[in-house]
Amino acid sequence: MEMLFLKMLLLFAGCFTGLFYHLSHLCTGGKRAGQNKPNFIIILADDIGWGDLGANWAETKDTPNLDQLALEGMRFVDFHSAASTCSPSRASLLTGRLGIRNGVTHNFAVTSAGGLPLNETTLAEVLKDEGYITGVIGKWHLGHSGLYHPNYRGFDYYFGIPYSHDMGCTDTPGYNLPPCPACPRHSAAASHGRDCYTKVALPLFENFTIVQQPVNLTGLAAEYAEKATQFIQRASASRRPFFLYLALAHMHVPLEITQPPSHASIPGPYRASLREMDALVGQIKDAVHGSGKENTLLWFTGDNGPWAEKCELSGSVGPFSGEWQKQRGGSAAKRTTWEGGHRVPALAYWAGRIPANVTSTVLLSTMDIFLTLASLAKASLPPNRRFDGSDMSEVLFGKSHQGHKTLFHPNSGAAGKDGEIKALRLAHYKAFYTTGGAKACDGSIGPEEHHQPPLIFNLARDREEQVPLDTQTSEYQVVLPAITGALADFLQDIATDNISTADYSHDPAATPCCNPQHVVCRCQACGCSPDCNREL
Ligand SMILES: *[C@@H]1O[C@H](CO)[C@@H](O)[C@H](O)[C@H]1NC(C)=O
Ligand SMILES: *[C@@H]1O[C@H](CO)[C@@H](O)[C@H](O)[C@H]1NC(C)=O
Ligand SMILES: *[C@@H]1O[C@H](CO)[C@@H](O)[C@H](O)[C@H]1NC(C)=O
Ligand SMILES: *[C@@H]1O[C@H](CO)[C@@H](O)[C@H](O)[C@H]1NC(C)=O
Ligand SMILES: *[C@@H]1O[C@H](CO)[C@@H](O)[C@H](O)[C@H]1NC(C)=O
Repeated sequence: MEMLFLKMLLLFAGCFTGLFYHLSHLCTGGKRAGQNKPNFIIILADDIGWGDLGANWAETKDTPNLDQLALEGMRFVDFHSAASTCSPSRASLLTGRLGIRNGVTHNFAVTSAGGLPLNETTLAEVLKDEGYITGVIGKWHLGHSGLYHPNYRGFDYYFGIPYSHDMGCTDTPGYNLPPCPACPRHSAAASHGRDCYTKVALPLFENFTIVQQPVNLTGLAAEYAEKATQFIQRASASRRPFFLYLALAHMHVPLEITQPPSHASIPGPYRASLREMDALVGQIKDAVHGSGKENTLLWFTGDNGPWAEKCELSGSVGPFSGEWQKQRGGSAAKRTTWEGGHRVPALAYWAGRIPANVTSTVLLSTMDIFLTLASLAKASLPPNRRFDGSDMSEVLFGKSHQGHKTLFHPNSGAAGKDGEIKALRLAHYKAFYTTGGAKACDGSIGPEEHHQPPLIFNLARDREEQVPLDTQTSEYQVVLPAITGALADFLQDIATDNISTADYSHDPAATPCCNPQHVVCRCQACGCSPDCNREL
């Protein structure tokens, strides 16, 4: 009870701080209304595989809307998420900096007191300063307690869940491995399904308010589409430019399909869910067409590769199978630095600006989104820090084919210390100082192995990462010093940068809870008995 009281106090304090922030911002930061600046929509799919996009991988036939987007825009085939797990990947997208700089090196929990460090500046803050209306719809996972809430991180509007949708029970548990039961309704049933989720039901937020707990996952995709469409329409009507960050629940487990797969034409939960996501993207594109497509950049990508441990409920890495690792056990997808972990689908669409039907092999990263959008909005970058992304607008407009020469892949949990750089790209070469698999469908976990000198693969010949270069070959001898040099320069750059540290401590009071009197914090009418909300 005391804890609850404290939590409410903190919440109120947080609201007032936020209010003052917004007021002072209105008074002092009142820049020109941002006319003629382009609108931006970033759609981030969760756990999507490179091979889940039909335009990338002909075996996939479930993404007609995305494939159409590829025909009307630019498709990037060597595009990488900044990390191979959720929170670090999202933190990097919104700051343009790797986890070793912004402090977010592993996932936040339901009880996390902290989040993305408060002195890191988000893309939303940068654009808001330029007069943009900003919204985030979907999964946040960068801290939800107090000042870490998205409404304090530059977003005017928030509708979504604070972390992954397998981090809390629901009444509509969907497809998962192992399958999870629905939320218990009474304390007597509370021990049930403990392996599946934390006890607290998954909350749905609109701004600061929990509007549903547990969230009804079945209807969530449709709600996201509706809220996104409303946001686009309202923002367009206001004549101010907008930035919408739409972080979908698809393709992460549990998979939730609105149309049950008992229907013979629906080919299994994963593909049915992929089709649903594809249709959702189509709806967003329609909304863009309804309100000025010639001034809107739509960028679709993913946060990391497929979660192979979930077997047939995970996506396809396409040809990026990480054979070297697979031969030693473990998976080579999400949570690893193998290509399958971070090479993600990416499409950029902007009618009349981005050339249509172009496949680009330029080496890019989700961290480029920050600097590219800031540049297109003519925004100034936050001072006193360095970035890992670059302004790639010339690449988008087909005027340049110059991407990154090097890209650094942080460890994301499968091997080594979180956030450390143990793999890197130099042109078409990929070097590993540490390898290790994540848990595979068969339950195996590839052992952590250290490589000095590093394993080097030539991805131009060996995109499966099957056979590393023989260290005796002249190819290896020539490329090794360039890789060693690139890594040394990078580490030197980090050592002289301003590095933030995330608070990963736990506080039970950080748990989002609608009704603490209820066994799972349930806040909606639960139907089972008239007084079930009063259950302790
Ligand atoms: C959320 O906050 C935004 C910005 O303050 C406001 O315009 C909107 O009405 C709020 N939405 C709800 C449902 O409270
Ligand atoms: C969840 O939402 C779906 C679709 O909107 C609806 O059909 C279903 O009845 C809802 N389920 C619960 C448990 O509220
Ligand atoms: C797209 O490009 C491909 C390859 O260059 C070409 O074969 C195809 O006809 C183009 N499609 C359209 C609709 O322009
Ligand atoms: C780090 O921040 C300080 C101010 O706190 C600034 O003087 C310095 O230039 C910054 N370093 C970098 C690399 O931007
Ligand atoms: C954030 O604050 C920490 C602690 O004061 C500092 O070390 C770090 O350089 C700051 N980060 C940035 C980007 O200025």
